Amino acid sequence: MIASWKLCFSLMSICSLQCRVVSQKLQLEPLNSTVLQDSDVQFNATIQGDWEVTTWNVGGIQVLTVVNSLDSIIPSSDRFSARFCLNGSKGCVEFTIHNVSRTDAGDVVCTVQGYQPLKAQLYVQERGTVSILGGDVTKMQGEQAEFECLTTAWFPTPTISWTQNDQTVDSSLYNTTSLTDGDSFNSTTILKLTAVSNTRVKCLATLSTLATPQSSSVYMVVVPKPTDWTVLIAVVVSFGSCALLVLLIIGIIFCYKRRKEKEPNYQDEMRKVKTQSQLSVINTVEQVTGQVNETYEPENQSNHTNVGLKPGFVKHRHVTIV
Ligand SMILES: *[C@@H]1O[C@H](CO)[C@@H](O)[C@H](O)[C@H]1NC(C)=O
Ligand SMILES: *[C@@H]1O[C@H](CO)[C@@H](O)[C@H](O)[C@H]1NC(C)=O
Ligand SMILES: *[C@@H]1O[C@H](CO)[C@@H](O)[C@H](O)[C@H]1NC(C)=O
Ligand SMILES: *[C@@H]1O[C@H](CO)[C@@H](O)[C@H](O)[C@H]1NC(C)=O
Ligand SMILES: *[C@@H]1O[C@H](CO)[C@@H](O)[C@H](O)[C@H]1NC(C)=O
Ligand SMILES: *[C@@H]1O[C@H](CO)[C@@H](O)[C@H](O)[C@H]1NC(C)=O
Repeated sequence: MIASWKLCFSLMSICSLQCRVVSQKLQLEPLNSTVLQDSDVQFNATIQGDWEVTTWNVGGIQVLTVVNSLDSIIPSSDRFSARFCLNGSKGCVEFTIHNVSRTDAGDVVCTVQGYQPLKAQLYVQERGTVSILGGDVTKMQGEQAEFECLTTAWFPTPTISWTQNDQTVDSSLYNTTSLTDGDSFNSTTILKLTAVSNTRVKCLATLSTLATPQSSSVYMVVVPKPTDWTVLIAVVVSFGSCALLVLLIIGIIFCYKRRKEKEPNYQDEMRKVKTQSQLSVINTVEQVTGQVNETYEPENQSNHTNVGLKPGFVKHRHVTIV
C-alpha cells in the first residue's frame, strides 16, 4: 500500500516538473540559418516566464552571457553581441554574430537556466574567385572555341553558368568538374562554342546567399573565314553564268524569230515565182520583137548612111547576142 502511494507521488512529481517545463516555454528563431562569410547573423530567444541567466554557445564555446537582473550582457569578444528585443520586454533576447567565419558554422546553442537548451544550425558559405583563363580570343567564323573557367576557394561548390551577350548558354555546351580538399571547392568548367559573331562570354558562379553572381568575362572576336570569299565568288560566278546562259538563249530565240519574219511564206513565194515567170515571158517576147525590129532597122539605117552605121551595127549585134 505504502509502495503504491510512493509510486503515485513520484509519478505526480514527474508530471508537475514536465508541466512546468511546458508552460515555461523557450523558443529559438531561426533554427536554420545560412549566411555568407563576413556577414552578420541573428538568433532570437523568446522566453515565457521568469529567467535569470541566458548563455549562448557557438562552435561548442560559450561566447555570450546575459544576466537579467543586472541588465548585463557579457560577450567573449566584440564579434558577439546581444540586446533585449525592441519591445523592451526582457522576454526576448536577440543574439548577433558579426563577421561570421567558417569556423562559426555548426551548432548555435541557447541555454536558459531552468530550461532545456535549444539548438540552431548555422551554415556559412564562402565566396571565392572566378576567372576565365587565357583572356580574349580571336576565332575564324565557324571554328570551335573553348573557354575554361576556374573557380577557386568556394564553399560549398557554386552553381556555374555561362552567358553569351547576356543570354544564358545551354548547359549541354559545358561540363563542370569539381575538386575539394574538404575545406573548399575548386572547379573547372569547359565551354565549347562555335564562333558565329563577336560575343562577350561570361562565366558566373553563385551561391544561395549571393545576391548577384560573381563573374568573369572575355570577348570573342570572330573574323570571316577566307573560304567564305571563294564561296561568295563561286556563287557570283554561277549566278553570272546562269544569267549569261539565259541571255544567250533569249538572243538566239530573238534572232531566229526575226529571220523567220524576213523569210517569205509559201504563198508569197509562189506569187513571186509566178510574176517573175510572167515578166520573163514578156521580156522574151519584147526581146524577140525588139530583135526583129532592130535587125530590121539597121538595114534601113544602113541604107541611109554607110559610115554612121558601123558603131550602131556593132551595138545592135551585141543586143542580139544577149
Ligand atoms: C536546414 O537547412 C538544411 C540545408 O540548408 C536542410 O537540409 C535542413 O533540413 C534544414 N533544417 C531545418 C530544421 O529546417
Ligand atoms: C568585420 O570585418 C570588417 C572587415 O572585414 C572590419 O572592418 C570590421 O571591424 C569587423 N567587425 C567586427 C565586429 O569584427
Ligand atoms: C528578432 O526579433 C527582432 C524584434 O525584436 C526582429 O526585428 C528580428 O527580425 C528577429 N530576428 C529573427 C532572426 O527572428
Ligand atoms: C514582445 O516581447 C514578447 C516577449 O515577452 C514577445 O512575445 C512579443 O512577440 C514581442 N512583441 C513584439 C512586437 O516584438
Ligand atoms: C561533357 O562530358 C560528356 C561526357 O563526359 C561529353 O560527352 C560531352 O561532350 C562533354 N561536353 C562538353 C561541352 O565538353
Ligand atoms: C584550389 O586552387 C587553389 C589555387 O589554385 C589551390 O591553392 C588549392 O589547393 C586548390 N584546392 C583544391 C581543393 O584543389
